[in-house]
Amino acid sequence: MSRERVLELRALLHEHNHRYYVLNQPTVSDFEFDSWMHELEALEAFYPDMADANSPTHRVGSDLSSKFEKVEHQRVMLSLTNSYSEEEIADWVSRIDESVGGVIEYVLELKYDGVAISLHYEQGKLVRAVTRGDGKVGEDVTQNVRTIKNIPLQLQGDYPPDFEIRGEIFLPREAFDRMNEERLEKGLEAYANPRNTASGTLKQLDSREVAKRPLKAMMYFVLGENGMAETHSARVEQARSWGFEVPSFDKRMIACTHEIADMMAFIQYWDKARKDLSFDIDGIVLKVNKIALWDELGMTAKSPRWATAYKFKAEKVSTQLYQITYQVGRTGAITPVANLAPVLLAGTIVKRASLHNADQILKFDIREGDHVWVEKGGEIIPKIVGVDQRFPRGSAEPHQYIGNCPICKTELIRLEGEAQHYCPNRDHCSPQQIGKLEHFVSRKAMNLEGWGVETLTALYQNGLVSNVADLYELPLNEMVGFEYWVEDEVTGEKRRRSLQQKTIDNLRLALENSKQVPFERVLFALGIRHVGETVAKRLAKAFPSIDLVRMATSEELLAVEDIGQKIAESLKLYFSIDENLVIIEKLKVAGLQMEGVAQATSNHAPILQGKTIVVSGVFTEFTRDGIKADVESRGGKVSGSISSKTTFVLAGADMGPSKLQKAKDLNIPVMTEADYLILISEK
Ligand code: IVH
Repeated sequence: MSRERVLELRALLHEHNHRYYVLNQPTVSDFEFDSWMHELEALEAFYPDMADANSPTHRVGSDLSSKFEKVEHQRVMLSLTNSYSEEEIADWVSRIDESVGGVIEYVLELKYDGVAISLHYEQGKLVRAVTRGDGKVGEDVTQNVRTIKNIPLQLQGDYPPDFEIRGEIFLPREAFDRMNEERLEKGLEAYANPRNTASGTLKQLDSREVAKRPLKAMMYFVLGENGMAETHSARVEQARSWGFEVPSFDKRMIACTHEIADMMAFIQYWDKARKDLSFDIDGIVLKVNKIALWDELGMTAKSPRWATAYKFKAEKVSTQLYQITYQVGRTGAITPVANLAPVLLAGTIVKRASLHNADQILKFDIREGDHVWVEKGGEIIPKIVGVDQRFPRGSAEPHQYIGNCPICKTELIRLEGEAQHYCPNRDHCSPQQIGKLEHFVSRKAMNLEGWGVETLTALYQNGLVSNVADLYELPLNEMVGFEYWVEDEVTGEKRRRSLQQKTIDNLRLALENSKQVPFERVLFALGIRHVGETVAKRLAKAFPSIDLVRMATSEELLAVEDIGQKIAESLKLYFSIDENLVIIEKLKVAGLQMEGVAQATSNHAPILQGKTIVVSGVFTEFTRDGIKADVESRGGKVSGSISSKTTFVLAGADMGPSKLQKAKDLNIPVMTEADYLILISEK
């Protein structure tokens, strides 16, 4: 099987090499390509008898075409090994540490997503520009490169008489978008991405055409022996002084460090910030700074050991939108959902993405059948960020947003100033009812462990529970063997389940425990629109019983911090509905906390008044939320990120290394859980 896999992988890699390097039409992500390459490398090491000089693992790929003169590189143009995780970076660093001792400084730079170029200068004049080609032989594109405005034709300052410099040629995004707009206006097909467009442009035979396109170059690698600085970062600065555009420290495009935490911080910073750059980068390049070490470390078949590339995962892909469906949320908010042709994005297969609201669909004029761009940002659910103009449009008509709830058919409403449509049938629309139950049992609300969405749905659909108070009135004793069907989300298959005695005991225990949950969380659990965790806390502090909240006037509500018109109206509406008052009465009878426990916790002396504390990691005496509540009950303010305003960091086990580093850098004291326990007991 594995032997067959070797042949299978070689065929796959050959095909995709060709698509990538010759056709300029890649159809798989770099990540996928690299994982095939790694798998093949591992298998070839395991089966040495299957060695083949023509294996894709033995070549770097070629972009040679027959149009330009071939030039042999004086020094081969290598490529870089790729890394995708902190672990791989740490491995790379430790391999270097092991082979050359001492404290080693590393340089981190952006990995420009363009076309590699090698420039030769003699007596300060650009004499030759050569593409990478297959690494050994490239193509002479000097005529075209001369048109690139930020490449100096004549150097300035104290440059060496004869040297080579390498860098990347790319097309800034704005120029790319403009070119595509023009092409679409002319009825031409749009270009796929800036990198392929830059590569295609550089290989135009007519350099006047090249001159019309605003290509840019960023140089990152100076080669030569005479008159050169001894570190990479100093050479970059030398190149700047000769007139080249190079990465700059003040724009955070380059950094020097020997700490992995700093490397990861730089990588994570650019993974987020890259969207704000005017050009594409696809990762971060890490290099050993001291050039004397480069020879010592040497190279593998095709890449140096003194450098590696951390590759960002592809974040945006294009796929077809089959159908737009609508989801009804817990609060009745309608979310349009794009059902997509499955596509690989940032390591997962995506089949559905959020379209947010009617405005979003209108803004991008998204229609069923279109090909769309899907993006995965910080949030878990991918989103659609536009129509992929390279494909013919889907439906001939703009998408018609629904007017009625897809579940209960009630006419939808849209409140002033809000983008979302709502189904106003709060109390009799099943997803809203089940959603309310789900919210009620959730960890941050009543924390009813074991009460999962499947059980709740079954109870609701069987008419056993229609609101949260019903949970406390269920005849659990008689429910052993209660049968229900569960649908598998992926396959759609239905499976039968039944409640066992043990499960019932757990459900009962969870209900019992929930009677200790403090009032502020009960208030949150009720699922009153716009009353989130923070608002519930503020309300519970200002009005320490449910009856006081109910009786508060709009003015009194508005006087509370963080409570505005919208929330006040929502509270008034909630308490004006009799059914809600009945639920509250039943929950009171069941024994839930309907009075402020917040009072009790604030009995603590305010020893942390005016102090800002960052809580991180895992604790033994407290849950994470528990220790935050404790800090707050002593007058402290809990903040999510370390800054110069932080008084101290309260660190549990497994606190992230970058946070620890940041605390160190800013000189912020770090307190352990044990220190904290002593602090609060002393006072
Ligand atoms: S250093 C020995 N630095 O990435 C390799 N390369 O996959 C020297 N690239 O061929 C290259 N940004 O085309 C280096 N800051 C940077 C880079 C960079 C982009 C490209 C370059 C290289 C490829 C490797």
